[in-house]
This record gives sequence, C-alpha cells and structure tokens, in this order.
Amino acid sequence: MRVVRETADYIICDDFLEPKDFELMLQYAQLQDYARNPKWMKPWDLADRPPWQSGETVYHPSRRLPPGDPRRQYPTGTALDRLIDRILSTKFYRNNFSRNAKSMTARSYLHQQGASLDWHNDAGRFAGAYAYYCHPRWHASWGGELMIVEDDIPDDLLPEREILEDGQIVKRKSWNVIHKDDLSELLFERTTSAQFLFPVPNRILIMRRGLWHKIGLVKNNAPFARCSIAGFFLPDD
Ligand SMILES: [Fe+2]
Repeated sequence: MRVVRETADYIICDDFLEPKDFELMLQYAQLQDYARNPKWMKPWDLADRPPWQSGETVYHPSRRLPPGDPRRQYPTGTALDRLIDRILSTKFYRNNFSRNAKSMTARSYLHQQGASLDWHNDAGRFAGAYAYYCHPRWHASWGGELMIVEDDIPDDLLPEREILEDGQIVKRKSWNVIHKDDLSELLFERTTSAQFLFPVPNRILIMRRGLWHKIGLVKNNAPFARCSIAGFFLPDD
C-alpha cells in the first residue's frame, strides 16, 4: 500500500490490496447482481444517469442482522472480506472511526458511460465514507474523476427550510433539490481549495463526513464501466 495523499479529512492510497486480492475483487465486482436504484436521491439531478448498484453488505463487530434483513453480513466468504479487513487495519480508520463508528457498509457500483453524481457531502448519520476502484484498467481521458472540496463548508450555512423526508415535513438546513441555486452559491463563495482523483484501479479514498464531493461524468469513450466498492462508516445507534 502506498499513501498518495493524507490530510486530516481524507486519505488516498494506491495498491491498496495485494495483487492477488485485487484480482479477486475484479471478479467480485463483475459477478454481483446489479440493478438501477429505483429511489430518487437528491445528489442526483436529471442530467445524471444513476449508476447500477448491488445489494448492501454490512460489517459490525458484534451485532447480527435481524432475520429477514435483505443485507448481507460480514464475513461473507467472498473477496469483499479482504477489502473490509484491509480498511479496518488502516491507521486512518483506527484514528477516525474505530471508536465512534463501529459499523461499515459496502456496495458495488457500476458507473456506465454517461453516469455521474452531483455535489453532496455524505452528511446525515454517516461518520465517513470510502470508495475503492476495481475496474481492470482506467484512462485519464475516460472521466469518472472524484472531485473533493477541501474547505470546511458545513451544512449549517445552507438556509433552513421545510423539506420532505420520507414523506414527512421536517425543518432542515438543506439545499433546494430542484434548482440547487443555494448550494451552488455556497460552493462558489466558500471553495478555495479542491482536489480531484482519477479512479485508478486498486486505489482507495477514505474520508471523514461533511466534505463536499462529486463524481465526474464517465465519457462515452470509456470501454467499460467505472467500477467501485463504496460505503459508509456509521455510528452505533
Ligand atoms: Fe458520496
């Protein structure tokens, strides 16, 4: 493993898994069952084509999933366990999440040509998130870059408004999901430092909650999908 860049908020590592485990992850990612997410999610806009995604796997050191829960639980006996083990063994995980966020999720995504994901900050109940790239090869001209705003721009700076959450009216500091003018203004005003990373195979990004980020468009010249395993670190409730 090679640390490419580390800040207080995120770490980027290359050659994250041993070559033999990376090979297994390539197979794992190809062999999942994928579906388009049928739910509207506010980071997407109508210009984005949502990626294909697999079911979710959950890691928790002690708690078992209740019977009938459609998610899978670690250990799965698949190559995904190697990735989860590797993440859990990093210093960045131990320093940032091991005490306050015991559980972790994992899901495979295929960002096909034309797929992208607009600005969002993975806030909510998450303590942090990660993305691991497991396509056989990528190219700097194929798009799919992850872009990160490094400035601290808390949700609190967004206007408080009544919004719908699971159909219920609640008050939240949030952006207008239709035109996003308020979010755009906030990012224009406050962003002074940004980072982007190519989705290099066998690279991982692990980040703390609250950083604004987006996934750039995967271009039509990409010969296959941008493939990632991504998930969240969750506090125990
Ligand atoms: Fe995200």
